[in-house]
Amino acid sequence: MATKTKTPKSNGKKGETRRDFLQLTAGAFGAVGAASVAWPLINSLNPAKDTLALATTEVDLSPLLVGQSITVMWRGKPVFIRRRSEKEIEEARDVDVAALSDKQTDEDRVQKPEWLVLVGICTHLGCVPTGQKSTEPRGEYGGWFCPCHGSHYDTSGRIRKGPAPKNLAVPDYVFTSDTAIKIG
Ligand code: FES
Repeated sequence: MATKTKTPKSNGKKGETRRDFLQLTAGAFGAVGAASVAWPLINSLNPAKDTLALATTEVDLSPLLVGQSITVMWRGKPVFIRRRSEKEIEEARDVDVAALSDKQTDEDRVQKPEWLVLVGICTHLGCVPTGQKSTEPRGEYGGWFCPCHGSHYDTSGRIRKGPAPKNLAVPDYVFTSDTAIKIG
């Protein structure tokens, strides 16, 4: 089952073109990865269910510059990947974890500090937060903002303000090289 990249609509500003291109590139790579895993199942098993369950998405991270984000699709869900700046990493770590509603350290949420990988679905009622583009609202903590009911996520994807009960989920993934991951 091929996956598709959700590409946020262009706002018409110069400078957005490169980000859009990165999203398309990553999505195409992801679609190839998912299709190659799913194909052997199509002839022998129920494709809809089994393909969905086993699909993985491979993402080439090398085009991302520091501070940039991409969105790829994995099992029908948007996955946010951000190459964090030093400032974003510091902000994510300079936090009193005991004061968080969903207590997780930043270290528990990343494999490499520079790379944050999240399921881009608000844990309140399932909207897709904004903040993947630098021009979108990122909320009071510089991460992502859910416009549906006003949840603010920080630069580790943790819920900091608003009705969402949990941090943005971190999917299973592995680094297949210094600059590539396989999700799922
Ligand atoms: S769905 Fe995100 S705050 Fe309600």
